[in-house]
Amino acid sequence: GAKRPRLTFLGTGYLGATYAICFAEMGYRVIGFDVDVDKIARLANGTLPFHEPGLENLLRRNLAAGRLQFSTNLAQIAEFGDVHFICVGTPQRADGMGADLSYVEAAVTGLSQNLTRKALIVGKSTVPVGTVEWVEQLVSKNAPADLGIEVAWSPEFLQEGFAVDDVLRPNRIVIGVKTEWAKDMLHATHKGVLDLAAAEGRTVPLMVTDFATAELVKVAANAFLATKISFINAMAEVCEVAGGDVVQLAQAIGYDPRIGNRFLQAGVGFGGGCLPKDIRAFQARAQELGVGDALRFLHEVDLINLRCRPRVMRLAAELLGRSGPAGPDLSGTRIAVLGATFKPNSDDVRDAPALAVAALLAKSGSDVRVYDPQGMENARVVQPKLTYAPTLNDAVRSADLVCVLTEWAEFRESDPYVLGTLVASRRVVDGRNCLDSARWMKAGWQYRGMGRS
Ligand code: UDX
Repeated sequence: GAKRPRLTFLGTGYLGATYAICFAEMGYRVIGFDVDVDKIARLANGTLPFHEPGLENLLRRNLAAGRLQFSTNLAQIAEFGDVHFICVGTPQRADGMGADLSYVEAAVTGLSQNLTRKALIVGKSTVPVGTVEWVEQLVSKNAPADLGIEVAWSPEFLQEGFAVDDVLRPNRIVIGVKTEWAKDMLHATHKGVLDLAAAEGRTVPLMVTDFATAELVKVAANAFLATKISFINAMAEVCEVAGGDVVQLAQAIGYDPRIGNRFLQAGVGFGGGCLPKDIRAFQARAQELGVGDALRFLHEVDLINLRCRPRVMRLAAELLGRSGPAGPDLSGTRIAVLGATFKPNSDDVRDAPALAVAALLAKSGSDVRVYDPQGMENARVVQPKLTYAPTLNDAVRSADLVCVLTEWAEFRESDPYVLGTLVASRRVVDGRNCLDSARWMKAGWQYRGMGRS
C-alpha cells in the first residue's frame, strides 16, 4: 500500500547501495538489485564494496533485521517493489562529452519486462534533461500496458564521506512527477525522511516539479559548485602574479552571506565521479538543445580547473630551481606526492587531480613516490606506472620536494620538524592550502601554496 511502499534500488554502486541501506534504516523493506553477482554476494554478506563512513554498520544492522535484501533476480524485485529506483551509472561516453545511458536502458528494459503489478519507476541517476520521456517510452514498449506503470524523477545530492547523512537528513527533496498518484507515492516513500526531520525539530523542503526541472536541478547544482571552485582558482592565478593571497581573499569575500565561505578553497581543483563529467555532459546536452552558448562558461570552468595541475608543477619546478624556458626538467629529483584520492576521507581516485599531477611530475623526469591513506589500491589500478610508498614517512624519505595534493588530516597534522629530518631538502608545495604555513616555515621549510605568492 501507499503507506509504507516497498522499495527496490537497481544498481548497487555507491549511489544505489547507500540509498538502499539508508531507507532500510528508516524502516522500509528494501531490495538492492545488481547484475554483478559478486557485488550482490558481498553486500548480502555485510561487506561494502566501497568506503563510506558509518554505512557498513547500517548495512549489517538492517540485514540482520530482515528489512534489507540483495538480489540479482529481476522477477523477484519486480514482484516485490511498489517503487523502483534506477541508480545505475551514467558514465562519460568514450566518444565524446555526453552521458552514456546504456545502463539506464538495460535496467529500465529488464525491469519493465518483468513487472506484474502497478509500480512507480523513479530515476535517480544523473542524466541529460529529457531522459525521463525516453524512459517512459522504454517502459511503455516493454511493460504490460494494462499495469499502468508510471515514471518519476528524483535527483540525489550525495557527497562522498557524508552520504549517510545526506540521505537521512537531506537539505531538500525534489520530485519530478506527472500525476497525483506518483506524487503521493513519493511522498509516502519520503515519509521516513520527513518524520526524522520532525523528530529532530528540522524541516526538509519537498519540492514537486515537472520532469525537466527535476532533471536539471542536479546538474545545475553541480555546475554551480564547479563554477564556485573554478572562480576561486581563477582568483588564485591572479593572486600568483599580482602578489595577493587567495586564502585571505576567499575569507574576505566569504563573509558576505550572498557569497558564503564554502566551496571557496583554491588548490589543485575539483575531481571525482560527478563534477567533471557532469559539467561536460551538461554542455553537450545544451548544445543538442540549441542553447550551447548559455553554458559556454562551463567550458571555461573546466579549463580553469585543468590549469591547476600544470600550475602545481610550475611551483614545484620553481622551488627546485628547475623551471627552464622549455618547460620544467625534473630529472634527477625525487618528489613525494601526498594524496591520490580526489578528496580526503574517500578511497575514490576517479578524475583525481592528485594522481594527474603525480603523473605530470613523473613525466617531467622526477622520481615520484605517492602515498595516500586510503586510495592506494584504486590508484594502482588507474596509474599503474607510478611508484607507491607504503607510509607517509617512506614517501618523504630522501625527497627533494614534498607535494601535498589531498588535504588528509594525516598530512595536515603531520609534524614538519619530524618530516624535516627525513627529507633530503625541506621544500613543500601545498596544493590544497591546507598546511599551517607559518609552522612549516618555522621548521625550516621553503613553503609554496596555491595563489599565495
Ligand atoms: C559532489 C557534490 O558536492 C554533490 O552534491 C553531488 O551529489 C556529487 O558531486 P563529491 O564529488 O562527493 O560531491 O565531492 P565534493 O565534496 O563536492 O568535492 C568535489 C571536488 O571539489 C573535490 O575534488 C574537492 O577537493 C574539490 N573542492 C571542493 C575544491 O577544490 N575546493 C572547494 O572549496 C571544495
